[in-house]
Amino acid sequence: MANQSVTEQVKESVDIVDLISEYVDLEKRGSNYLGLCPFHNENTPSFNVNKEKGFYYCFGCQASGSVIDFYKEMENLSFSEALRDLGNRAGLKIKYKQESINSKDLQLIKMHEHLVDLYHEILTETKEGETALNYLLDRGFTLEQIKREKIGLSPNMSDGTIKVLEKLGYSKEMMYQAGLVARNEETFQYFDRFRNRIMIPIKNHKGRYVAFTARALGDDHPKYLNSPETDIFHKSRLIFNLSDSYKVIQDRKEVIMMEGHMDVLKVKGTNIKNVVGTMGTSVSKEQIEILKRVTQNITLMFDGDKAGKNATTSVGEKILEMQANPYVISLPSGMDPDEYIEKYGSESFENYIKENRDHFILYDAKEKLKDSKDNDLMFTENLNRSIQLLKYVQNEVEESRILRGLSDLYEIEADLIKRQLPKRKEVRRQKETFHRPSILNVTSREFKERHIIHTFINDKSALETFKSKLDSELFQTEGYYGIIKNLVEYFSEFDTFDKQMFLSYIDHEQLSNLERILDTDLPILGESELNDYVNAISGMSSSSGEKNKLIKEIEQAELIGDDTRALELFSQLIELQKSPKSK
Ligand code: GTP
Ligand code: MN
Repeated sequence: MANQSVTEQVKESVDIVDLISEYVDLEKRGSNYLGLCPFHNENTPSFNVNKEKGFYYCFGCQASGSVIDFYKEMENLSFSEALRDLGNRAGLKIKYKQESINSKDLQLIKMHEHLVDLYHEILTETKEGETALNYLLDRGFTLEQIKREKIGLSPNMSDGTIKVLEKLGYSKEMMYQAGLVARNEETFQYFDRFRNRIMIPIKNHKGRYVAFTARALGDDHPKYLNSPETDIFHKSRLIFNLSDSYKVIQDRKEVIMMEGHMDVLKVKGTNIKNVVGTMGTSVSKEQIEILKRVTQNITLMFDGDKAGKNATTSVGEKILEMQANPYVISLPSGMDPDEYIEKYGSESFENYIKENRDHFILYDAKEKLKDSKDNDLMFTENLNRSIQLLKYVQNEVEESRILRGLSDLYEIEADLIKRQLPKRKEVRRQKETFHRPSILNVTSREFKERHIIHTFINDKSALETFKSKLDSELFQTEGYYGIIKNLVEYFSEFDTFDKQMFLSYIDHEQLSNLERILDTDLPILGESELNDYVNAISGMSSSSGEKNKLIKEIEQAELIGDDTRALELFSQLIELQKSPKSK
């Protein structure tokens, strides 16, 4: 153990199946475990975990790696952070050279932590805090919630925060960089950014305090004042309340997103805990990416006003484009979640959530139809829009459910709408071309080697017949001979090929090769064809100068997108390989 690297120690101590099972329902298949891939949207499981060799691999999206990689991806950590956390879990005493947060960021965080406590104390334990505390209690927050969320009040002074932080030894420049203090750019005077405001602390995804959103008491302007962008607070990447809610989101397989911080806090007081907040109304692609890693189902519950509706439309479209599933719960006109709860109570709110969730496409169609029932032109335009949106939906069950909904709304047969959609197969094929290796990778030699292995996979007896002829000279494509060896080993125990079973025979690095071979959509070769193929590749020279030159040129042509030229060069390459002796 002493000479093992930390990485190896962690890999050995943490059971990959146990860990991944916390995120994915895994089912044992042969010697592997199989489940729905957490890294892309799918309905049939293609996510494999190999317990013995300690890696995972997805046949759908090619995501792969060790237990550390998995944890890193799921928890959105750096590699060393993932290593540290997993090491701690396994009870390993691992020494690290450095904290994963750099020391300056840590100082900015420490300032926030200190102020969170101070502001909270002012709100809950001083005379100065009474008015603000009563305001919050009047709004329906309980003292318990206020304490749990560490809501506070900033002093009504121009230098209250500055003085406190100075006593702790921080410079004004540091306070400024933390976004806690503002500066007059003409006089260079510093003053408290937040004065006499209700301070709602904002935690980053690891649960550390990095910013505030501050609500005015009464009718002061602006109503909300937020921390500026700083080294520790990136608005386009941060999702409010995610650190508290992600476990519930994972369990419920849904996240509900709201506009207001107060709304999120109020809703957390009900039985609905899988809520997060935007930082205003704009939602970035990065934020959606982050949420997608926790769940594919993102429900928007924005305010029931014009701004909320506009945001719903643009965010909903964005989520669809990013291959996740947007849903919408629209609120009664003019209301936000907080107001709904205040008016009708928590239980009614919980029921409202249960009963009013629409797929975004149906929500969108309903909204559009409201103003166009009698307008034929608009009607067609809206229907087309719905069809365009529906093209993004990959799940067939979901698609058919939405189709039925659209059919009711537009009063048109579902089949008629369905006919406007590209056929399933075509959509699938479109998706596959995304992963299609460039023609450069399919040199004639590799193509033949692949075809041969493909045949062996499907025909054990062919492999036995040719076994003696197969060696590393014959299979020159990197990794292919290794697969042949594994296949021989596998077939000494089994009679038919089973992908899941076979996975435990191969190494991690070979997975992409195997996948490429399994993807081969070609007829199985007969014995004489196999003979021809084997003879052909044993006569092929693998690397002549001219060949390399051609490959370089092909690469270049591909790079600039000149497909015609690339194809032309490619056929030259094949010609060259057919007659190796002539060069
Ligand atoms: P309450 O009045 O406290 O219930 O807040 P609210 O969340 O209902 O506010 P509103 O519906 O007016 O605005 C929705 C969201 O927009 C807020 O939660 C803030 O994130 C943002 N917002 C509103 N007013 C301001 C403002 O004056 N400045 C900034 N930066 N953001 C604001
Ligand atoms: Mn409100």
